[in-house]
Amino acid sequence: MTKRRKWTAIPGLIALATAAILLSAYSGASSSQGSQPQQPINFPHTVHVQRLGMNCLYCHYTANKSPDPGLPAVSTCMGCHLIIGPTLNPAPGVRTAPYKSPELEKLVNYYKGGAGKPVPWVRIHKVPEYVHFPHMRHVNAGVTCQTCHGKIQEMPQVYQYSSLNMGWCVSCHVNGYSPQEGEVAAGYARGDSGVVTPAGAPQQPAAATSANAQLQPSSSTIAVGRQPAKNAAGRSIARYDCANCHY
Ligand code: HEC
Ligand code: HEC
Ligand code: HEC
Ligand code: HEC
Ligand code: HEC
Repeated sequence: MTKRRKWTAIPGLIALATAAILLSAYSGASSSQGSQPQQPINFPHTVHVQRLGMNCLYCHYTANKSPDPGLPAVSTCMGCHLIIGPTLNPAPGVRTAPYKSPELEKLVNYYKGGAGKPVPWVRIHKVPEYVHFPHMRHVNAGVTCQTCHGKIQEMPQVYQYSSLNMGWCVSCHVNGYSPQEGEVAAGYARGDSGVVTPAGAPQQPAAATSANAQLQPSSSTIAVGRQPAKNAAGRSIARYDCANCHY
């Protein structure tokens, strides 16, 4: 670098420092790690994802299309719960006698035959307004939901698994994302044959792939676009200049 170019870099650095100070002045802060607010209805991801095999995108249907995955509307729930509940029938391995579910009664009360109001779900994950976080870019780059959110399918009540702080974002963008690690985080791993199996389970070709399809959006639901850049170790990397994440 010549002496002249070194000097022209200084105004840039000052601008950067100023921007950093301005940003921190109205920081707003991210939601906090471990946060587990009480929800208006005790919604069990365990039942819907693990027992019923539902795909995350069935309810969070804009996660691969928009910056915000969104929370499901009551109508999404009522597609099933007009038929199922509040009085639940006996089911093998679940219950032997009929059971009146107070949680499903709450759901029906919010719905009120279509004239009700939305369920006031308490938002858990939140980055400050000055941070730009496009969900779809991550989902379409193949980053599994659980890499960032933990094993939601095993959480009786959702909590914030990751810190969501700047160091967390930058560290993945710089060091890169590995699909193998992402699958392990999601609760399944790719075997030697390339077949996806649940972590710790014996290798079961073909069937295992569909059994785990619900744990992450299937490739057919993900828009096929440009692939993210890879580093020498084959990990997907992303931009980490300030303007990438800050408006
Ligand atoms: C049957 C619908 C349904 C399915 C399927 C579903 N979710 Fe959810 N999800 C919800 C509802 C309702 C909430 C809000 C209540 C709560 O936090 O439990 C929620 C909340 C969340 C939150 C917290 C949102 C916040 O406020 O920050 C995350 C993260 C999440 N889900 C991820 C997932 C992942 C990952 C999957 C797939 C493994 C999945 N969900 C499958 C309905 C669903
Ligand atoms: C694809 C169908 C389907 C959809 C969509 C669905 N559910 Fe369910 N839900 C079920 C089934 C099946 C059960 C288990 C019933 C049983 O245990 O017999 C269940 C169980 C529940 C329970 C637990 C009831 C209890 O006390 O054991 C709650 C609460 C619940 N659902 C809420 C919701 C909410 C809220 C939504 C929308 C965000 C939703 N469900 C969407 C099918 C669905
Ligand atoms: C790279 C990390 C990452 C991945 C991968 C990821 N999320 Fe998120 N998620 C976040 C962050 C960060 C937020 C807070 C975003 C904000 O405040 O704008 C969030 C917020 C959410 C919310 C609450 C926001 C809302 O709109 O109410 C839901 C629901 C959610 N994620 C579901 C999912 C699902 C489902 C997947 C997989 C299809 C997924 N996420 C993949 C990091 C991630
Ligand atoms: C686990 C790894 C991981 C984490 C954590 C993560 N990202 Fe990313 N991010 C990626 C990957 C992979 C891409 C896709 C790059 C591409 O498509 O070229 C991406 C893309 C982006 C993009 C799109 C612009 C681009 O091409 O780089 C933005 C903006 C972004 N991330 C912001 C964030 C923010 C803000 C956070 C933290 C709240 C975050 N990311 C956390 C892996 C991650
Ligand atoms: C990959 C995404 C990403 C990149 C790149 C990034 N940031 Fe951030 N930044 C965040 C997130 C997320 C937060 C909010 C969470 C937090 O405070 O840690 C944040 C917060 C901040 C804050 C407020 C801190 C506070 O405690 O109030 C400042 C100042 C900031 N960033 C400056 C910068 C500067 C300067 C750069 C370039 C050198 C940069 N950021 C690059 C994601 C990013």
